[in-house]
Amino acid sequence: MEITNDTADEMWLRASVMMRRANHQTFEVNVDATGEDAVSLRLRSEIVQWLRAPLVSDSAHATVILRTVTAQVADGLKLEGPAADEGWHIHVPALSEHEKGKSSDPVIIESPSTRGLLYGFYAWLEGAVPSASMKPQDKISSPDQPIRMLDQWDQSDGSVERGYAGESIFYGRWGSNVHSEFVNFPDRGAQDVFRGDTDRLIAYARFCASVGINAICLNNVNVRGYAIRFIQDPWLSRVAQIAHIFESFGLSVFLSVNFAAPRIISGLSTLDPCNSDVQQWWDKTVDRIYERIPHFGGFVVKADSEGEPGPYQYGRTHADGANMFARALARHGGTVIWRAFVYNSHTDWRDRSAAADRARAAWENFHDLDGKFAKNAVLQVKFGPVDFQTSEPLNPLFFAMKHTNLIMEFEVTAEYLGHQIDLNFPLPQWEQMASWLVEKNVPVSKTLGLYAPNPQLTGFAAVSNVGMDWNWTGNPLAQANLFGYGRFCWDNNIPTTSVSEQWSALTFPRCDQDHQKTIARMLDQSNEIYKHYAAPLGVGFMVNRDGHYGPGPDDYEFSRWGTYHFADRDGIGVDRTQSNGTGYVGLYPEKQAKMFENPNTTPDDVLLFFHHLPYAFRMKDGRSLIQRIYDDHFEGAARVEDLIRQWNSCKKFVDECRWKEVSHRLLLQQANACEWRDEMCTFLYRFSGISDEHGRKINR
Ligand code: GCU
Repeated sequence: MEITNDTADEMWLRASVMMRRANHQTFEVNVDATGEDAVSLRLRSEIVQWLRAPLVSDSAHATVILRTVTAQVADGLKLEGPAADEGWHIHVPALSEHEKGKSSDPVIIESPSTRGLLYGFYAWLEGAVPSASMKPQDKISSPDQPIRMLDQWDQSDGSVERGYAGESIFYGRWGSNVHSEFVNFPDRGAQDVFRGDTDRLIAYARFCASVGINAICLNNVNVRGYAIRFIQDPWLSRVAQIAHIFESFGLSVFLSVNFAAPRIISGLSTLDPCNSDVQQWWDKTVDRIYERIPHFGGFVVKADSEGEPGPYQYGRTHADGANMFARALARHGGTVIWRAFVYNSHTDWRDRSAAADRARAAWENFHDLDGKFAKNAVLQVKFGPVDFQTSEPLNPLFFAMKHTNLIMEFEVTAEYLGHQIDLNFPLPQWEQMASWLVEKNVPVSKTLGLYAPNPQLTGFAAVSNVGMDWNWTGNPLAQANLFGYGRFCWDNNIPTTSVSEQWSALTFPRCDQDHQKTIARMLDQSNEIYKHYAAPLGVGFMVNRDGHYGPGPDDYEFSRWGTYHFADRDGIGVDRTQSNGTGYVGLYPEKQAKMFENPNTTPDDVLLFFHHLPYAFRMKDGRSLIQRIYDDHFEGAARVEDLIRQWNSCKKFVDECRWKEVSHRLLLQQANACEWRDEMCTFLYRFSGISDEHGRKINR
């Protein structure tokens, strides 16, 4: 496919790029961030590049002024929240009568930090796009979450685990955009797994910063191959080069590490986290990293999970494991992020006891460790108790850990949500999770930092969705998911429609406003549509086992992974009640437990997550359970046709390249939705023997 100037390379910065090309407006910019630190240098070069404007030292003549201030930005106006110093205030002060004759009103962008000035600058730039709905003139804003992180599941062989947008932008074939500092590597050979495409990394770092992302982990949590050695030279020197790029855009850089690295790299006979040799090994390793990357963020660790090594092997707890890393990192101000995605992946499908319920796993492994983690350790907990499914309740660990720093984990990459082939903008699901009340009137997004030993070490993390594809995300419309994630981290309650409309305006500037809104509407509907035709009513894990795309209702049913739906001739769903099931319901506070205990009060979205119900069960709307499942699947598939119609109506406003790519994917989505519909309806009809009341045809 030919890539034109109007392709999606610039993602949501496209409108700003066009504006810059067309703009004859001249700016004179004054910045008081004059230091030589990486972020100040980057801020100044971004301003010069974007505005094609000289920096002036005299603020009296400037048309744009960026200045650092205290959180109290003006009389009675204050930046608030746990990350107030990253917030910004943009305003155009009224000029005095005396000044009026002399110059036009300058725009003032203020923040307590240089990082905040960078965010404020991008916000102002986006707001200047004529059709953008956000006009940040005279606006004050600060992030809700202190940590706003992306996890790259990129691997040193150039592949991306659960990646749907081509190869890794970090690792893999030596590219053509190699900058001189990258060529200068002592050992450019088979071992050098770094792609070296600096331009792409700079562009990605800019996208991240433009939506307020402030941390990134550079490699997959399953640490394999050369990635195990990234913490050592010569690989470390490459990591340092990448870190420098991301740090200049205000992102702290983390690495995933393999718990067994001391044995794999240096042959240590034990990995016991309480053994002094092991501790010293990590101390020295961390010291070397900080020599190269003085502002290094720290480590992300997946241990004792899905075959990864961990502290259990040595009779130690996860707190022992995490604290070993925390001690090494604390000496340099670093952080260890420890994942709570720990479960027994060798269950027997016949076992329906509490011990075999995978939904209980994170809670069982961690709840009694509350308060035992070091102050610079953070527990990263997936939003739901199983694994990024289309519908899950909130992980009950968020109720149990009151003395631990917590990160809530999401997936921007659409592992279970249609692989960026099917349109799926998951912001509604994320917001539903973040607004879950864990205390009277207090949503989990707020309690994360409320009791944490270090409130600065709490926030959100998500697996990224970018790759080497020409449009970064495979499906050009999946760029919205990355953009939406950034906006969501910044403002946990931002209305979905305002995000989709803003994204659409910034990404399709040549489209008229009506059609920009059509695209936004497609996004807004997409999560619900997908939910309708994929696994029903929160039952989860009916996906195809090879890769998690498309239906495979029995693919996981008799396996060891603990993800069962228990469909049989009598009913479907997992009984997690206290009265009759695994007792999982009892992990929630009383009021919620009471609601989930009873199928008549359980929200439809998670009905089969909590209950095993007969097919004739009466739903709240009067339909039988089986009829509701049939109807949902037919409706979901039919609504994909509607998405296609909406997209077709945009044809003349969208460049051919993107139009074709999205059209192609929508057709694939249509086939996928029909396959889900037919396979699910067939599967459950065979079990239940109950016909669809409407006698619709199944095309299998
Ligand atoms: C899911 C995913 C894996 C991943 C794991 C994790 O199970 O399918 O690819 O490694 O989550 O979060 O660690």
